[in-house]
Amino acid sequence: MLTMMYFSPTRTTKKIVSAIGKTFFEKMLCKTNIVDLTPLAVRMRTYSFCEEDVVIFGAPVYAGRIPPLLLPVLRQVNGNGARAVVVSVYGNRAFDDALLETFDLFTEQGFTVCAAGAFIGEHSYSKAVAGNRPDVEDLLAADLFATVAYEKVKSGTPVRSLIEGNRPYKEYAPSVLSARKAPVVDAALCVHCGKCIEVCPVCTIAADLSDRGQCIGCAACVKFCPRQARAFDGEDMQRLRMRLEETCRERKNPKLFV
Ligand SMILES: Cc1cc2nc3c(=O)[nH]c(=O)nc-3n(C[C@H](O)[C@H](O)[C@H](O)COP(=O)(O)O)c2cc1C
Repeated sequence: MLTMMYFSPTRTTKKIVSAIGKTFFEKMLCKTNIVDLTPLAVRMRTYSFCEEDVVIFGAPVYAGRIPPLLLPVLRQVNGNGARAVVVSVYGNRAFDDALLETFDLFTEQGFTVCAAGAFIGEHSYSKAVAGNRPDVEDLLAADLFATVAYEKVKSGTPVRSLIEGNRPYKEYAPSVLSARKAPVVDAALCVHCGKCIEVCPVCTIAADLSDRGQCIGCAACVKFCPRQARAFDGEDMQRLRMRLEETCRERKNPKLFV
C-alpha cells in the first residue's frame, strides 16, 4: 500500500507530498491511503505499517525543526520495515535541521528512508516570500525527485548522500514551544462562516471566535478566511514579516538527497 502522510495547515506541504505521491501511484498502481495529520483528531490515532508499505511523509519547517506538535504522533508510528520518502517544506528562509531530524525520526521508528527532499512553499507569514510556491517548477522538481526516489524505494536502498543539517538539532525557538496570541478578527469583515474553526489544527478557536490559548501560529485561519478578516497583530510579527521580506526574497531551489 502507498500512504501519503502530511501535516499541512496552509496546504503547501500537501501539494508537494501529493505531487510525489501521484508519480509513485502511476508506477505502483496499488491501493493508496491519505493520512492528513492536520486535524487534531487524526493526530490522536496510532499508525502501523509493514514491509510491503511505502510512505511519503511531509511536514513544514517550523523554526528550523519539525513542528513540535507532530513529535508525539510520529513517535507512535511503527514502520516495521516499510520504506519511506521524507520531505520538509520551508518558507524560503532555511530548513536548518528539520529534514535531518525527519530522516532520523523515521529511521528510529523502523522505516528504511530511501530518499529525502527539502522543498519551498509560500511563507506562512508573507505572500511576498516564496509567494504561490510550490509553483510549476517546484512540482516538476517533485516529479523528477519522485522518479529517482521510486527506484531507490524499489531496491530498498537507504539514503546514501549526506542530508544537510546538524546533530544535535538546533534548540526549538521559544515561540514554537509555547502558545501564541491567535490572529485577531476584524468584526466588521467577519461573517461567522466558521472556516477558521474548520481549518485550525489545534482547535484553538471557540464557537464565539475567542482564543482557547492553543495557537501555534500556523496561519491557516489567516490564509483561508474568505473575507480576509483575520490577521496577526503585534509588533513582533510585523518585525518578523519585515525581516523575512528583506532577507528571504531570493529564490531558493529544492534540495534532494538520495
Ligand atoms: C511557526 C512557523 C515557523 C516557521 N519557521 C520557518 C523556518 O524556520 N524556515 C523557513 O524557511 N520557513 C519557516 N516557516 C514557513 C513554513 O515552513 C512554510 O511557509 C511552509 O510552506 C508552510 O507549510 P504548510 O503550507 O504545509 O503549512 C515557518 C512557519 C511557521 C508557521
